[in-house]
Amino acid sequence: MSITKSTENIDATAITAIASHLNHVVAESYGLLGQLHLAHWNVEGTDFLTLHQMFQTQYEELFVAIDDIAERVRALGHYAEGGLKKLAEMSTVPEGPSAAAAPAKDWVSSVLLAHEIVIAAAHKARVIAAEAGDAETEDLLIGRISTHQKAVWFLNSYLK
Ligand SMILES: [Fe+2]
Repeated sequence: MSITKSTENIDATAITAIASHLNHVVAESYGLLGQLHLAHWNVEGTDFLTLHQMFQTQYEELFVAIDDIAERVRALGHYAEGGLKKLAEMSTVPEGPSAAAAPAKDWVSSVLLAHEIVIAAAHKARVIAAEAGDAETEDLLIGRISTHQKAVWFLNSYLK
């Protein structure tokens, strides 16, 4: 780890905590990514096309976003966590329906829960970043939270 000049105004201990929280957001986001793919592939029923496409839109956006979050960790002078086993250990996203038939609402619910978990992790990281005066990380996380909140609205609307 090295503190770069661009972040030297932020306390080193705080940067370590921010990087750790960001890595956790990456892990939870990968958990969500896995659920989105699974739902995209296996959802069935009269709403198939709508849900299949919505899940794809969400995982494509998320894949790009995860890269930004991990690269923020690097910009802070720390290293990004990665690899399926490591991220699975770190993630608290539960497995949704397995590779079997399940009602469309079950797929939506599993994805919805995963979004909520990512929001919670991003919110924790955002608070730590705000306290440390790291406005750039905070800005990144505010954007992520807004995007996930919009997805939650979509998914909740489907479940009504
Ligand atoms: Fe596909």
